[in-house]
Amino acid sequence: MNKEEIKACNDKYFMNVFSGRYPLVADHGQGMKVYDKEGEEYIDFLAGIGVNALGYSHPKLVSAIKEQVEKAIHSSNLYYIEPQAYLEKLLIEKSCMDKLFFTNSGAEANEGALKLVRKYYRMNKKRKFEVITAENSFHGRSLATVTATGQDKYRAPFQPLPPGFETVPFNDLKAAQEAVTADTAAIMVEPVQGEGGVYPAEQAYLEGLRELCDAKDILLIFDEIQCGIGRTGSLFAYEQYGVEPDIITLAKALGGGVPIGVFMAKKEVADAFSPGDHGSTFGGNHLATQAGYTTLMTIYEENLLENARKMGKYMVQRLNKLTEKMEMVQSVRGRGLMLALQLSEDIEAGEVVNKMFDKGYLINAVQEHALRFLPPLIVDEEHIDGLVEALQEVLS
Ligand SMILES: Cc1ncc(COP(=O)(O)O)c(C=O)c1O
Repeated sequence: MNKEEIKACNDKYFMNVFSGRYPLVADHGQGMKVYDKEGEEYIDFLAGIGVNALGYSHPKLVSAIKEQVEKAIHSSNLYYIEPQAYLEKLLIEKSCMDKLFFTNSGAEANEGALKLVRKYYRMNKKRKFEVITAENSFHGRSLATVTATGQDKYRAPFQPLPPGFETVPFNDLKAAQEAVTADTAAIMVEPVQGEGGVYPAEQAYLEGLRELCDAKDILLIFDEIQCGIGRTGSLFAYEQYGVEPDIITLAKALGGGVPIGVFMAKKEVADAFSPGDHGSTFGGNHLATQAGYTTLMTIYEENLLENARKMGKYMVQRLNKLTEKMEMVQSVRGRGLMLALQLSEDIEAGEVVNKMFDKGYLINAVQEHALRFLPPLIVDEEHIDGLVEALQEVLS
């Protein structure tokens, strides 16, 4: 099919939920670059929305996946799976968690975490089931996770929503304290909100939530689906706060592009699940866990956490220069390589994104007046210089 035929096919057969697609038929990629079917080159500063941590076609990931595919893509969780064992061991050793369960997506990881919370209190003979989440959060599109998501635009069309969720302002400890009732089972937050506009949690907020949870017998869940796996410069964002949750959820970058998610918990919580409580046909299969293991090992072998810290700093410096030079560029926020640029109210972020697209850069608008950058962890100074120069041209 040519470009026009592909678009026509999509318009005719795909449900109308991604109506504003860009005129790019992403065909193949290499490193930071993705190529259109007709050969046009784009530098991807969004990494497939925080997924392609190693960029496109990283040779180690490609060869590990090829080798795995030749052996087995899938068998079943009825049997033992070697790459699953490697990945579970690595994730548990690198985190403060004790046990995990593999899923296929972020929403499923959060859904599993929410089920685990309910089972934990049921096991402990307590009638706790309510979950407090934050305004502007994003936790997924399944019925429970869309209800947990603190943004009405995602929730409203699907009412009536499942009961047991309460949303309070983000970074507002007092609001969380006041929302706690005898039924509160969990507080779920993103250490750095992604879809809500790239807002890091304040140190005192996460520390306060931990204290609150300890005092009131509540489980603390960190949704690190977007901010985990090196995005903020450490494998997990919680490490930078020194605050340990009871449950962590991950997805996006974990498989380097192959769909995989996971929820991990402290032993006492994880042990609430017993045979039959949860399951997944595909979750943790050979292909996905091989991709996850290779992605994580490559992050370590190639010092990509350090690169994320260094390049994050460099990018903030370069973007800050724009805020000094240009009135319409107001501020830079975020952590590591999870950054947003706040523009003035007269500048539509969507228009800037379109113009950057025309210049061969992929970014997105995370709010009406804010641009988001989630580059692969392999990004270098040259890529950043190119992006900032293009931005400067577009904005002037
Ligand atoms: C913080 C967070 N949680 C959950 C999700 C849902 O993940 P998925 O789209 O893989 O279901 C996302 C996706 O953007 C996310 O950013």
